[in-house]
Amino acid sequence: MDKISIIGGTPLVGSVQISGAKNAALPILFATLLVSGKTKIKNLPQLNDIETTLQVLKILGANMKYDVSSHMREINCSQVESLEAPYDLVRKMRASVLVLGPLLARFGQAKVSLPGGCAIGARPVGYHLSGLKALGASIELEQGYVLAKTQKKLIGNKVVFEFPSVGATENILMAAVLAKGESVLENCAKEPEIVDLANFLIKAGAKIEGAGSETIHVQGVDTLSEVEYSVMADRIEAATYLAAGLSTGGSVRVNGIDPENIESVLAKFEEAGAKIKRGIDFVESSIDQKLKGTDVITQPFPGFPTDMQAQFMAMMCIAAGTSIITENIFENRFMHVAELTRMGAQIEVKGKSAVVRGVNQLKAAPLMATDLRASASLVIAALCAEGESKINRIYHLDRGYEKIEEKLKNLGAKIFREKS
Ligand code: UD1
Repeated sequence: MDKISIIGGTPLVGSVQISGAKNAALPILFATLLVSGKTKIKNLPQLNDIETTLQVLKILGANMKYDVSSHMREINCSQVESLEAPYDLVRKMRASVLVLGPLLARFGQAKVSLPGGCAIGARPVGYHLSGLKALGASIELEQGYVLAKTQKKLIGNKVVFEFPSVGATENILMAAVLAKGESVLENCAKEPEIVDLANFLIKAGAKIEGAGSETIHVQGVDTLSEVEYSVMADRIEAATYLAAGLSTGGSVRVNGIDPENIESVLAKFEEAGAKIKRGIDFVESSIDQKLKGTDVITQPFPGFPTDMQAQFMAMMCIAAGTSIITENIFENRFMHVAELTRMGAQIEVKGKSAVVRGVNQLKAAPLMATDLRASASLVIAALCAEGESKINRIYHLDRGYEKIEEKLKNLGAKIFREKS
């Protein structure tokens, strides 16, 4: 397994081009199953999770071409032969459950391995299943698989989500676009990635109104047709590079990003003492003082994203004063705490909150990546620590950050990958 070595202490300075958003690309790739014909997807990031998704589509029978020069994938799902997403792939990536809605809507049947628990909590799929049932699907659980079926087409209906789950909103939205009649989805997640998925579906001929708000109206159509689409930029990647810049006392510009998509994070950076410049499609951050302890509570969008909680905590480890970081979305998302503590951070977890008492300097240590965003927090901590840190199990990082060493090196970081 590859490792990353980082020698800390260099302020990061410069610009980074932000890649396509993993969390928008995944549902959009699964949504290609709804299209009778070719789809061309641009701005796909090169990440392990994207590869896993493409493998799932291939197993189902999709044909694919890759245009290297434009980073464009052409995907043709007209010849789908299998309706089963096997355990070996689903266990690698929980988002594979997003295959359910599209398969059921287009082919009336789907068999998907139930995703297991994962490092950041149990992450059940009950909201996905009850939403599909509301659209007329019968659901059975058999030997670790979900078997979903419908007699003819799914039937449009009202679906009220118990919690604004991102994945459940996406899955049911994809199912509803080919259902018969109207569906009204309530208490939907409002994340920008849902808007991106809806824009893709609308471009392919779906009738959707209200994506990005609490209520989404979908008028079912018979088919979706060939479409070309470019995936939005990754707001979490952008916010991570800004956090790395600020933690090292540097100044970083992220290009290709709509600042509104990370406003809750930018506001917290400002509260912590950063200077932030918002452009039309870029953000610049700099700092001319020590970071100040700042409290954060994770919430569904437009609140502070859980996917930035670990990175923000790494920043707060070297801020002046105390910060209280409260995790409201996932029940077990403090695994980075133990590793940060090994670098000299002072953090105490009390239930859903972590109390971080800022220290002057973190010290390098051998580190273990545990999940995607926890790994990003360790990279940030290592970039500002004294000495050389080695981060093990960085496959977690490769699931979500395209060319991370190259991008950080361009900002002046001393970072090296040790191939195993
Ligand atoms: C997505 C993102 C992930 C992000 C999360 C929250 C992708 C691929 N992943 O994950 O990066 O951290 O949104 O912004 O887009 N829940 C249930 N039952 C369900 C579904 C969810 O109890 O059927 C719970 C989850 O356990 C969690 C909460 O709802 O506590 C939110 O989860 P959800 O929004 O569904 O997250 P994901 O879609 O899995």
